[in-house]
Parts: sequence; C-alpha cells; structure tokens
Amino acid sequence: WVLAVTAQTPTNIAVIKYWGKRDEELILPINDSISVTLDPDHLCTTTSVAVSPAFTHDRMWLNGKEVSLSGGRYQNCLRELRSRASDVEDEQKGIKITKKDWEKLHVHIVSYNNFPTAAGLASSAAGLACLVFSLAKLMNVKDDHSRLSAIARQGSGSACRSLYGGFVKWIMGKEENGSDSIAVQLADEKHWDDLVIIIAVVSSRQKETSSTSGMRETVETSMLIEHRAKEVVPKRIVKMEEAIKNRDFPAFARLTCADSNQFHAVCLDTSPPIFYMNDTSHRIISCVEKWNRSEGTPQVAYTFDAGPNAVLISHNRKAAALLLQRLLFYFPPQADADLNSYVIGDKTI
Ligand code: DP6
Repeated sequence: WVLAVTAQTPTNIAVIKYWGKRDEELILPINDSISVTLDPDHLCTTTSVAVSPAFTHDRMWLNGKEVSLSGGRYQNCLRELRSRASDVEDEQKGIKITKKDWEKLHVHIVSYNNFPTAAGLASSAAGLACLVFSLAKLMNVKDDHSRLSAIARQGSGSACRSLYGGFVKWIMGKEENGSDSIAVQLADEKHWDDLVIIIAVVSSRQKETSSTSGMRETVETSMLIEHRAKEVVPKRIVKMEEAIKNRDFPAFARLTCADSNQFHAVCLDTSPPIFYMNDTSHRIISCVEKWNRSEGTPQVAYTFDAGPNAVLISHNRKAAALLLQRLLFYFPPQADADLNSYVIGDKTI
C-alpha cells in the first residue's frame, strides 16, 4: 500500500527582512521580520509526500530531479515531524500506522516550484513550508501552525512565514532552544486585498551567493549589521505593524523601500561585498522613486531579496496598471534583454 498527501504553499516576500542568525543549527534570527504571503495560485510549491512499507529510505525529487536529503536541515525537519507523528488509519485501504511505526517507515517527497528555484524569489520559503506542512498532514501531526512554523524554520528561516497567508511576523524569540522563535499572523489575506504585487523577473539565474552563506558572512564581517538588528529593525517592526493595521500605504511603502535598501547596504558592507541587485534593479528603483516623488505620495513600494528581481507592491489595481504601463515602456521584456518577464496576478507578460 501507499498513502499520499499533496499540499500547495505560496512563497512570501519580506517587507522587513530577516538577515543574520544567532544560531546556525536551529536557524534563529538576529531580528524580527515581517512578510506578505503571495496568492496561492502564483509562485508556489506543490509537494506530494507518500509513505509505503515498500520504501527502503527517505527520498526527494525537486522539479523532477532527485536531491539529497542528507543535509542537516532536512534531517532536522524529518526528525521533528517523526517525533510528533500520531496514529493514522485509512479503513478503506485497510491501512493502520501507529505512532511507533513512523520511526521505521520511509517517505518519498516530490516537489515542484512554478517559478525559478534559488533565483532570489524565496523558493526555499515555499519549498520547506510545503514539505513540513504536507508531511505533518501525512503523519497526522497535531501541532498548530505556529508549532509547525518552528519546524519549517529549521528547514529555512523564511519558510516559517509561509505557513500563514496575509501579513506574517516571525518573532525572533529569546530562548536558546528556539521554542519561542515562531511565526504569527498579523492580518489575514482579506485585510488589505487592494494591494497588487508585480514581480519583475530581471534574471531567473541562480544567485551566486546563497542567503545562508551571505548572511553568515555579513554577521562575521559587517559593522552595520549590529546597528540594523538592534537599533533600526525593532523600531521599524512597530511602525510596520501600525501601517499594516491601518492600511496606511504611504507609511508601508516608505518602510518597505527603506528596509530593502538597508538590507542591500548591509550586503555591500560585508567583506567581500555581496551584490544581489544589478543595473536593471537599480534602474527600477530610480523609476519608482521618481514616480513616487512626482505624485507627492508613494504609489508603489519596491523590495528586493537575495537576487536582482524586483517585487513591486502597488496600493490598488489602478496604480498597478499605471506601474505596468511604465515598466513595459522603460523595460520591455525580451528574450535576451535585461528583463525577461513580469508576473502579475495569474499572467506572465
Ligand atoms: C533576503 O530563509 O533563504 O529573503 O534561513 O539560511 O535558509 P536560510 O535563509 P533564507 O533567507 C531569506 C533572506 C531574505 C529575507 C527574508 O526573506 O526575510
């Protein structure tokens, strides 16, 4: 027999960034972060997990290719989930798995991203969140989303925020064992549904410096990072929570852009410096800044993760349409050009 579960998890985009760990093994951050979870239809990971007595070891395929599960992060997630598994019974199929059986049974995991993997579009966030969520369903893990977020966190920090829709805060926590480093939902997906997110795919190539090694180097070498984590972010988190609660777009946009720029400044302050954005990214920033200034109040927020792709957030559909018009004029997507496509709603242009 084979018992299987499929789940779909969207990616999330941080508007106050996580950058830097205080514990590499448990993945505990040096500051709180806040993100917005995208619509489940776009930029998501779909994962099917199966268990069968015929499986001889745990295996995983990502986008059709087998990947190794030997890394500590996968193993930590699998171990945590197995220890929390409960009895599973499927009367129709005549299957009965006891809590103890999960220690011996092996799982197969098949995962697909509908967007470029490791191109700075937070693919690990959707991937690890989906893996933990689908395995938790399969293994009948009874913990709530918040506890599951702490398991996903051990797969990839940003993954813990993808367990919820809407606006999500990852609380850094104080405990050494990480038990209070969890994600909580600040507002659900209906709270601010006027917002439209457009992603300008500047490059779908894999990034040169992974987030994991990039943030390690920043913590080891940057003098700015401590100021950011201790002085800047705590105040920004309070202001961002206010802006989200009040649907205050100008404040939201200013904080989002400032935090993205400071994150990239901290990357530049790393030795050797890390460049995630490229000339096209910089031109997009100038274009948005000019537009916002000419309107007198921000129409669009931009944020860039560990890659050159721009995530643009506009406050309503009208502003999004105008933004797209401008983008298509200044940055027409062409196969061999700087910018290859736009992802907006359910269309890729
Ligand atoms: C720039 O979550 O990918 O996207 O915890 O080492 O797996 P690990 O890093 P990861 O880092 C994401 C960094 C970021 C900012 C963010 O999502 O908050």
